[in-house]
Amino acid sequence: MKIMSGNANLPLARAIAAYLEVPLTDASVRRFADEEIFVEIHENVRGEDVFILQSTSFPANDNLMELLICIDALRRASASRITAVVPYFGYGRQDRKPGPRTPISAKLVANLITEAGADRVLSVDLHAGQIQGFFDIPTDNLYAAPVMAADIQARYGENDLMVVSPDVGGVVRARALAKRLDNAPLAIVDKRRERPGESEVMNIIGDVKGRNCILIDDIIDSGGTLCNAAEALLAAGAKSVAAYITHGVLSGGAVARIDGSCMKELVITDTIMPTDAARDSAKVRVLTIAPLVGEAVRRIADESSVSSLFD
Ligand code: R5P
Repeated sequence: MKIMSGNANLPLARAIAAYLEVPLTDASVRRFADEEIFVEIHENVRGEDVFILQSTSFPANDNLMELLICIDALRRASASRITAVVPYFGYGRQDRKPGPRTPISAKLVANLITEAGADRVLSVDLHAGQIQGFFDIPTDNLYAAPVMAADIQARYGENDLMVVSPDVGGVVRARALAKRLDNAPLAIVDKRRERPGESEVMNIIGDVKGRNCILIDDIIDSGGTLCNAAEALLAAGAKSVAAYITHGVLSGGAVARIDGSCMKELVITDTIMPTDAARDSAKVRVLTIAPLVGEAVRRIADESSVSSLFD
């Protein structure tokens, strides 16, 4: 087995390699003066089972292109199997046509990864499970919920917990987390989005009075969804609000928005390398998913069950 990495999240790649006790493959992913990407693999990968790690996070297009070129280099170097390990699958939110004459970019990205030469894909909390069907190669979609549940249990115990989905689309994810927390009760924020990038809370379904609310979502981008939801929950009588989010996209002034919000804390994972602002924030905490991804990689290499990781 070989583990290679693009530049999107080297600390995570190193942590996964350390978990597997395998050195990162010696390769360079560089830029020419005009920003074209050049990849060179400095060791033999012929006949190897290679895992290429790269989240397609900001800058999404550069990181995606790096991933595609790395896959191409591995294919031309005769790797026997190439698994694209994409902990954060960018473009995942463009998974359907929201209106006429719009693209389904998640499908296009799936096609690009497949056409470049990937044999399989491993990701974490895809925005929608159906994205797996955009690939005609095997995919494994891991869940950060066990990592989050362990942290919530250590921090809050069972103290008046309530799991909250910040929108109707996230109910399945929230229910799965609630199940892991001894069937904690569930509430739903009925979010209406008038324009892309802006959210407005309309209603809370469930009695959150006196509860320590745990908001769960796959992505925090501008932070608008969560901050609005947190305000609405406190206004409805919640005791406290914290959020557990798999992918900390945290664009623009998101961290400042979280810092100034009524939220107790924001817990993200390291599928995306945390920005300096996120690292410096007193309200943002990062959980690592390196052991989870590392174990999934090991099981894929051993041809053993990945789903049993979540039993
Ligand atoms: C939307 O369906 C996603 O699950 C997130 O709720 C959304 O991407 C968060 O975006 P923002 O932080 O900009 O409100």
